[in-house]
Amino acid sequence: MEFKINGGKPLSGSVKIESAKNSVLPIMAGAVLTDREIIIENCPKISDVFAMSKILRHAGKSVEFCEENLIIKPCEREYVKDVNFSQEIASSVRTSVLMLGALSAKYKRAKIPYPGGCDFGGRPIDIHIGALQSLGAKIREDDGFIICDEPVKGGKTVLPFPSVGATENIILSAVIAKGESIIVNAAKEPEIVDLAAFLNKIGAKIYGAGTSIIRIEGVKGLCGGAFRPSADRIEAGTYLIAAAITGGEIELIGASAENISALLFKLCDNTCKFKIKNDIIYLHSGKRKKAFDITTGPFPMFPTDLQAQMSALAAVSSGKSRISDEVFKNRFYHIAELEKMGAKVTLRGNVATFDGVLRLHGATVGAHDLRCGAALVLAGLNAEGTTIVRDIKHLERGYYAMDKKLTALGADIVRA
Ligand code: UD1
Repeated sequence: MEFKINGGKPLSGSVKIESAKNSVLPIMAGAVLTDREIIIENCPKISDVFAMSKILRHAGKSVEFCEENLIIKPCEREYVKDVNFSQEIASSVRTSVLMLGALSAKYKRAKIPYPGGCDFGGRPIDIHIGALQSLGAKIREDDGFIICDEPVKGGKTVLPFPSVGATENIILSAVIAKGESIIVNAAKEPEIVDLAAFLNKIGAKIYGAGTSIIRIEGVKGLCGGAFRPSADRIEAGTYLIAAAITGGEIELIGASAENISALLFKLCDNTCKFKIKNDIIYLHSGKRKKAFDITTGPFPMFPTDLQAQMSALAAVSSGKSRISDEVFKNRFYHIAELEKMGAKVTLRGNVATFDGVLRLHGATVGAHDLRCGAALVLAGLNAEGTTIVRDIKHLERGYYAMDKKLTALGADIVRA
């Protein structure tokens, strides 16, 4: 599947933002911890959610959409320890690794294949494993599987880096553990706050989410309930950059300005004007952007998940822009594709330097991973002529109905 885009049309109109993919997926893992019904509201119908649904079905859950809500409840079939989801399913979604914390907490034992997800260089899970072990879990590796023989008991763990996934795995492993667990140097991302708020809503005792120290008092069990995760800050940011790269104006409905302030700061001193009212963000973009510098980092620094999209913008901003990714140092597959569209870029290690051109030109390019795909769509919206973005299955892991949403904003984009 591919997108065919005829560029050059300024975007204009409103777009609805979904619940955050990176909140929904760990919350789905959290649903394993209870035998009651869980409802995730405003859930995007994206392939990562469908992949995670398959994994939950292996864990004895029924998972169905009811309009925009995802309903997760126990089904007749029990989770059978050791009969687990396949490597193929695990490798399709990175958050499969969160089943280690969730399944071991619920069933005192778990066996999961190595996880997958976007491939932009090694994505190790040593921080997950080390932290779970330091909280008392017994974990070993066997023939491509990670096996937990004894669950987390409690204690204190200090993360060497505030890994989002490791923080989530520990939270999931600790909420119904016997003792108290403390995470030092925890990730502070809004998606961690969402996971904790969801679990607290169904009876967990998690304190300090959103700060670098999280304390979890183990509780006996959890109940059920409905939860609406925060707006997807990366989807919101992608549409704002789409408006900026086309010199358009856009209104995001159901977004959180607070969660993307790093992006808003970058754009607002660069020919973009904003109005923010409750959950609506309005952006009016001037024509051509000036060069800018970005260094990605853990929240609240600039998110690595918007680095590729900002690279597309840098490619057409006047002057020399510099983009450095300090979170995923190899996350630059989009650069070679942008070059096919006329971008002038020098990539040295994890730093890309752009000599902004007036406009990109259409080309056939490949979406190597999710955000690379998003960057290429944005580049295509700017480019003169026709751009074909191949392998859009990667895009569909994280963006619901992107072609329809962009068409409604006036873009000329079709799926083929
Ligand atoms: C999550 C997000 C992803 C985002 C990333 C950083 C989800 C589903 N995905 O990914 O979209 O880009 O946070 O904000 O929420 N690391 C290790 N060992 C580990 C774990 C991580 O070395 O055990 C390294 C990674 O290679 C990377 C850095 O730590 O360099 C950050 O990774 P992490 O925060 O764990 O990202 P993910 O949870 O995989």
